[in-house]
Amino acid sequence: MTTTLDPWFADPGTLPERTRSQLAMQMEPSHILAIADEVRGLQAAGEPIANFTIGDFAPSEFPVPRRFLEHEQRLQDAGENNYPPAVGMPQLRAAIRRHYVRDLGLSYPEGTVQVGSGARPLIYAAFACLVSPGDKVLYQVPSWNTSYYIALNFAHGIELVAKPEHGFMLTADDLAPHMQEARLLIINSPQNPSGTAISREAMTEICEAIVAENRRRDETGQRPLFLLYDMVYWQLTLDDVEHVTPVGCVPEMARYTIMVDAISKSWAATGVRVGWAVAPPWLMAPMKALVGHMGAWAGRAPQLATAATLDEPDIMRPWMEAYRTKVSGRQTRIYERLSALSAAGLPVEPVQPEGALYVTARFPLHGRTFGDRTVETDEDIRSVLLHQAHTAVVPFTSFGYPEGTGWMRFSIGAVTDADIEAALDRIEALLRQGGSS
Ligand SMILES: Cc1ncc(COP(=O)(O)O)c(C=O)c1O
Repeated sequence: MTTTLDPWFADPGTLPERTRSQLAMQMEPSHILAIADEVRGLQAAGEPIANFTIGDFAPSEFPVPRRFLEHEQRLQDAGENNYPPAVGMPQLRAAIRRHYVRDLGLSYPEGTVQVGSGARPLIYAAFACLVSPGDKVLYQVPSWNTSYYIALNFAHGIELVAKPEHGFMLTADDLAPHMQEARLLIINSPQNPSGTAISREAMTEICEAIVAENRRRDETGQRPLFLLYDMVYWQLTLDDVEHVTPVGCVPEMARYTIMVDAISKSWAATGVRVGWAVAPPWLMAPMKALVGHMGAWAGRAPQLATAATLDEPDIMRPWMEAYRTKVSGRQTRIYERLSALSAAGLPVEPVQPEGALYVTARFPLHGRTFGDRTVETDEDIRSVLLHQAHTAVVPFTSFGYPEGTGWMRFSIGAVTDADIEAALDRIEALLRQGGSS
């Protein structure tokens, strides 16, 4: 006999509100996923949309490296399918340390690597292990998801607007008024959404300010100011751009930095779920316990396959080069085509891409009317691009940026080269038509 439970969920009255915790009540769904859902709906209805919204890869365009998959299959077949240690497989932790010596020139001691199922649980664990309720977290807009992690930890966010003239990155001057009150600073480079990277000079100035602030706090016994450096896109840095790390710029920052990294973007492996954090050894015990309690470890075979693949840089080099060339080629193509439109006097201002999967451009279309839509907000610009140029982008307002600037993010991983050309033709036609003002 089957007991049908549907009636117990019909008409719940006030039960949902009375059920949910304070955290559940303040939990926000992702803005970007809501936009992506709308786009998928239009595509399902047969609209020929070029989907530049999601920070993910179409496997047909960007498959996971075959070498990694071969290792993973072999390891699964060999029975590597039970619980891994909560801190991560020793082979992977060691391979990550070798990788950083080889590719970043950073030699971390043993006991500084925590593995997890992608970057996200480690970002969450970093917040949870450093930030107490009410602690102040300094972060910038535009930024990816930081506000959600602040809310999840009942922290107090100090939000600063990063300026386009600084490549949408905060500077030491921007941070100076808040250094003494903050507990944690978040930096992401190369950055989602802007596709820009922090310079050595800007990073060095910020790190020197953090070290100076922490020397002051050492004297008073205050808790230090930490830096969470999210560098999940660092392997996707354009050729003529330098990827810098806090500890590479100011080694003393090793005491105050958690760096987060993953194969998600480095190997187009977003669904595999292998990431790691590198942190001072005295943060390992609580991070390990938290990842363990959440069960947020990466699978055993994917961990060992990541270790084996990281240890084969010569075999991986051609794959990495082809991958990076394809990603950066697309970013450059979008930038150059939008720049040509800008040079022709059309209302679009692209930003030179430096890394990640993104290209940023401003569409100052406020006050113009396209079809039945008069543009008043950034959401209207997104809507005009979607419905009248069949081009789906994400406005910077979805990354917390102030309303009314017209900045939009293009993500290049889930489209084809032909989609890119066709979308830019349609954008050109839309901007040439110009709308009425
Ligand atoms: C800046 C940034 N950090 C972290 C992540 C999440 O990485 P993972 O998929 O490894 O959890 C993303 C995903 O889009 C991202 O853009």
